[in-house]
Amino acid sequence: KTAVVLFGGQSSEHVVSCMSVVNVINHMNREKYDLLLIGITEEGHWIKTESVKDIESGIWREGKTNAVISPDATKQCVILTEGDRVDFVKVDVVFPVLHGLFGEDGTVQGLLELARIPYVGCGVLASAVSMDKLYTKIVVDELGVRQAAYVPVMRSDLGDMAAVVGRVEEKFSYPVFVKPSNAGSSKGVARADDREELKAALKEAAKHDRKILVEEMIKGREIECAVFGGGLVPVEASGVGEILAAAEFYDFDAKYYNSDSRTVVNPNLPGDAANAVREAAKAIFQAVDGYGLARVDFFVKEDGTVVFNEINTLPGFTAISMYPMLWEAAGVSKDLLVDRLVEHAFD
Ligand code: DAL
Ligand code: MG
Repeated sequence: KTAVVLFGGQSSEHVVSCMSVVNVINHMNREKYDLLLIGITEEGHWIKTESVKDIESGIWREGKTNAVISPDATKQCVILTEGDRVDFVKVDVVFPVLHGLFGEDGTVQGLLELARIPYVGCGVLASAVSMDKLYTKIVVDELGVRQAAYVPVMRSDLGDMAAVVGRVEEKFSYPVFVKPSNAGSSKGVARADDREELKAALKEAAKHDRKILVEEMIKGREIECAVFGGGLVPVEASGVGEILAAAEFYDFDAKYYNSDSRTVVNPNLPGDAANAVREAAKAIFQAVDGYGLARVDFFVKEDGTVVFNEINTLPGFTAISMYPMLWEAAGVSKDLLVDRLVEHAFD
């Protein structure tokens, strides 16, 4: 069987994907699958890539073979072109190791649906809902799980900044968090401690998305839970993990470049909080119509209250990432996890 592994992508999380994919490839079962690696550059160019080494060095971006998935549902193939030469490679499954926009948001999933090629992970709806923080809020409110209170702001509202600030200050006192509705790895997210910072943060967030959320600040520990299953496979939640961020909050640099950030598996939590997190993670995964995998992130307050933060349908798979780490702690090796994820694409 041929498995296509997609990585890179046009989002602000391009570099994270390039780290995640190395782990995924290294744990793919080569006896079952021939791999066809396709990198997507930040400009959106799809390039056939030869090896993990070329991904690590970044040299893949100079590859000469263009590789695209044909949307033709009668073919299930990748079209390779180099100069005048055209080849067709039949594809059995795709693992989109893409984070953020144009990869984790349902767009690539839509292409794969059209092509009728099985793929790992969530479908169009779950991906789109989970990528959009504002829409996730609506679904989670409906479910009745606690989450940070929020004020939605549209980019077009910023023309009347005084009105926006008024709406926020009517509901919250500072500090507040400002987040683009569609963004991953905390890109464009900022804490605002006063009115001036709020305005600056709104302008910054507006560069990332036309929809913005201003949220109350939740004081709590950052707790994450990995979910697997869906469809015919019962939904399972791993144990929980804690992020001990080196920076004030787990922003992009703290996540990937600050080695003082640490993760702890099965931290000591008050009362029944760990189980509450696991139950909420499964419920949210199902509420967004999740399939395959997701990492669901929460805050746990001092008194044990569990507050939903966000759901990631293509969570990081880097060497320091929580998703594979949590399953390893539950006795599921990375080899087995990757195999389960790929097999689940066929169910
Ligand atoms: N968005 C990053 C990859 C994560 O949630 O792990
Ligand atoms: Mg994310």
